[in-house]
Amino acid sequence: CSKPYTDKEEVVLWMNTVGPYHNRQETYKYFSLPFCAGSKKTISHYHETLGEALQGVELEFSGLDIKFKEEVMQTTYCEIDLDKAKRDAFVYAIKNHYWYQMYIDDLPIWGIVGEADENGEDHYLWTYKKLEIGFNGNRIVDVNLTSEGKVRLVPNTRISMSYSVKWKKSDVKFEDRFDKYLDPSFFQHRIHWFSIFNSFMMVIFLVGLVSMILMRTLRKDYARYSKEEEMDDMDRDLGDEYGWKQVHGDVFRPSSHPLIFSSLIGSGCQIFSVSLIVIIVAMVEDLYTERGSMLSTAIFVYAATSPVNGYFGGSLYAKQGGRRWIKQMFIGAFLIPAMVCGTAFFINFIAIYYHASRAIPFGTMVAVCCICFFVILPLNLVGTILGRNLSGQPNFPCRVNAVPRPIPEKKWFMEPAVIVCLGGILPFGSIFIEMYFIFTSFWAYKIYYVYGFMMLVLVILCIVTVCVTIVCTYFLLNAEDYRWQWTSFLSAASTAVYVYMYSFYYYFFKTKMYGLFQTSFYFGYMAVFSTALGIMCGAVGYMGTSAFVRKIYTNVKID
Ligand SMILES: *[C@@H]1O[C@H](CO)[C@@H](O)[C@H](O)[C@H]1NC(C)=O
Repeated sequence: CSKPYTDKEEVVLWMNTVGPYHNRQETYKYFSLPFCAGSKKTISHYHETLGEALQGVELEFSGLDIKFKEEVMQTTYCEIDLDKAKRDAFVYAIKNHYWYQMYIDDLPIWGIVGEADENGEDHYLWTYKKLEIGFNGNRIVDVNLTSEGKVRLVPNTRISMSYSVKWKKSDVKFEDRFDKYLDPSFFQHRIHWFSIFNSFMMVIFLVGLVSMILMRTLRKDYARYSKEEEMDDMDRDLGDEYGWKQVHGDVFRPSSHPLIFSSLIGSGCQIFSVSLIVIIVAMVEDLYTERGSMLSTAIFVYAATSPVNGYFGGSLYAKQGGRRWIKQMFIGAFLIPAMVCGTAFFINFIAIYYHASRAIPFGTMVAVCCICFFVILPLNLVGTILGRNLSGQPNFPCRVNAVPRPIPEKKWFMEPAVIVCLGGILPFGSIFIEMYFIFTSFWAYKIYYVYGFMMLVLVILCIVTVCVTIVCTYFLLNAEDYRWQWTSFLSAASTAVYVYMYSFYYYFFKTKMYGLFQTSFYFGYMAVFSTALGIMCGAVGYMGTSAFVRKIYTNVKID
């Protein structure tokens, strides 16, 4: 890893991966192409962290002799005996625009393998790596690679690979050395600011609208209900009692499938807290300067926030009168891990078939399983027990009737299915431009660093989601349909369906990915991302709505 150097100290050039330029996740070991390594063999294989192993980092020593502040003139470090098979491998790589990645002192360097001429008949390999390394004091702060020495690939020839190293004094501060990899003109584009501003206006408008509608209608409702209270029985029979008050005996009836419902809500709360904490950590610390640290942090935070899952899932399940709480805890704890691991497992098969470096090593799989069973599960148990004991009592403002009320016929647009479909549109509208930036940084290796934006968007998304689900629920209850729990969850979660549809658009119009591996990787992990987003939005929507429902039924007098 990165460290201060003394003069003439060895500087290691690590070769990482090679792969098609348009398929950024389809990577192979550098030496899976018939490149040759330098003669130096002092360093064994690099030991990866968990995050690196999961991201397919495959560092291997290049064998090049580089010493701090020691110039190297063009030197041949090895030769390739180009037989037919090796030539074909290179030609294939060049045709698919392969590029490779290396690291010096944690700074990434990219280079392309070769070039084809215009009519695509002759293929050339770049054989000369010209390294220019900038240093500031005893630190390496800047690395540039120039590829030169184009050699035509002719079978049964020898190709000599060479390198040179130049050292330059640089004024770049060590803390700022990653700045040149950031792309402010992309991330701080006017569109980005504009979209945030836009969503923000939408939030203000929406919150104003929702509070106005609710204040006025609810006040009218209360007035009507209290007038009805004063009427005698005769009048009341003739009077038109209707609206949400009618379902007071059913509104706190446990949802259907309470076990899976509370597991979803618990998981959603956990995802929300993970997102919040990871974004805050990323805002405070520049996680992008260390390979795989984002993923490692996310896994750590996920494991550490397991009590949140247990608390909310367990207490909701207890409130709904569930008895199989151990089963609920297992399902809640393993819902997300199983979904992620299942997808990873499936993609792993394809990666192994392709010999891609994304194939997850066996040891890493064991480590992940250990985290699930020995960290996530016990912490979940703690959360569940706390949740059941601290807030597991069903202290609802209204009693639940023994017999469920029949749900009256209503207009088609009041059907839960329609409400669910429409509910996701506004939340999706508030985030889809940010989605573009997140997708682009993930799928095209731009480094995402504007976590302040992301935080704002998360807050906006939550507010919009809560507002929308409250309105949806109000209409639903007013139509005397008391199945609000799943409806509020799903109407918020449907945001994810729109995000997944957007990811299709993004794939076909914004990327040039191809091939089975990259395609399944893209759609597999997009599905995971969308589902997680959906569960999060659903939980946030449900939480907001349940507070709202509690509030309106507390204020009305039920006879
Ligand atoms: C690398 O290239 C950039 C841009 O061309 C230049 O500003 C910088 O000085 C170079 N660094 C070194 C060490 O040569």
